[in-house]
Amino acid sequence: MFLRGFGAVGLATGGVGIWRMGSNHVLSPASGPAYAPWDEWEQPGERPLEKLIRAAILAANPHNTQPWKFRLLDDAVDVYADTSRQIGGIDPFLREVHIGVGCALENLLLAAEHAGYQWSLREAPSSTDSALQPILGVLLKEGMKCTSELYAAIPLRHTNRGTNVPGKGVDASLIQAFGDVRNSDSDLRVFWFRSHDEMRAFGDLVVSGTQAIIADSGQSRSSAQWMRTSWTDIQRYRDGLTYDAQVLTPSKRAMAKLLPPLSVRQADEYWLRETRDTQVATACMFGMIAVRDSTKLHSLVEAGRLWQRMHLLGTLRGVAMQPLSQRSRAPIGLAADVCQRSRRTAARRQLAGRNAISVRLSGTCCTAQPEALSVERAPLDLLRFASSRIPSSLTHAPQVTDR
Ligand SMILES: Cc1cc2nc3c(=O)[nH]c(=O)nc-3n(C[C@H](O)[C@H](O)[C@H](O)COP(=O)(O)O)c2cc1C
Repeated sequence: MFLRGFGAVGLATGGVGIWRMGSNHVLSPASGPAYAPWDEWEQPGERPLEKLIRAAILAANPHNTQPWKFRLLDDAVDVYADTSRQIGGIDPFLREVHIGVGCALENLLLAAEHAGYQWSLREAPSSTDSALQPILGVLLKEGMKCTSELYAAIPLRHTNRGTNVPGKGVDASLIQAFGDVRNSDSDLRVFWFRSHDEMRAFGDLVVSGTQAIIADSGQSRSSAQWMRTSWTDIQRYRDGLTYDAQVLTPSKRAMAKLLPPLSVRQADEYWLRETRDTQVATACMFGMIAVRDSTKLHSLVEAGRLWQRMHLLGTLRGVAMQPLSQRSRAPIGLAADVCQRSRRTAARRQLAGRNAISVRLSGTCCTAQPEALSVERAPLDLLRFASSRIPSSLTHAPQVTDR
């Protein structure tokens, strides 16, 4: 009797497993229309400037919320921050939104230069939609084609959360080269942390910042709302974080897709473990792009532009790069305490501060994992006049599993 019951449970579980294998496309990671923008990014659109948007939307952005919208004119593109896509309490002042828009702007400008446009920046017109915050306009004039080496890296770049490959380090010449791809904004400063003590201090801040976020149920739930665990949600919403983008081993990735989704608490615990034991423990170095005043929208946009340029360059050099925003959530007392371990006064001040994008570098080859791509919304859905084409169901994130 017991064995018969066990057999029935086994069969049912096996059946669910086989069903999930098919419905979640376990054997074909990062596939389907939600990933098409990575392949189609250089295709011409109906309007000449459309291909600039195709490049822009492949940029880094917080939680893959893609918090942007564009307005195409004949000789300009207006760029807006879509504040309805902010990650709740994790980014209350829209700092990450503005950095993300800066990343997209940088891709857009690289694509404009490649297409033979000279660009200049101007103020964007005000918006009648309260969720759309005007960031700036890109004025375009036909000129000489001038392709930066960074352009080729646009479809290859992705955030790499994986472990460092032993023996692969980050070449010191790359740090020098990062200095050469700087944009002109004098408000930005870049700090690298390579000594044992500084890396420990930085790592402690990242881990305690992660603990602080998951201890706050509001922040934890806001973050979980952007997790997409099923193929259906991935293709429907085309945004957010997926198992594929976590750079798991093939067997772990398959298990994650086969098993029922983690609860918010389980996902938080997993995040903390990965942060501490993989991302912090195996980092080759940490860095920070600091802005003088984080309430200055344009400084944050410039910081995003610089991060995007650095990430593109790192991609060309085979270095894995990942923002680690949790550092700025570490309790202030702890920040002050661990910062004593840095002997550099300016770096120490920045470590304790909250106004920067923090990053991790490691020596994994990031171009070798095409399955770790993020999903992208369709470029046409991101044009401002086209917003009515987005069904209202697509503007709301799915419900998250309770703790
Ligand atoms: C301002 C900002 C903050 C980010 N913070 C984190 C972070 O804390 N941890 C992380 O793994 N990725 C972080 N990212 C990376 C995004 O999650 C990633 O860019 C997004 O999911 C799109 O994926 P892609 O970069 O592979 O295209 C951040 C990106 C930006 C622009």
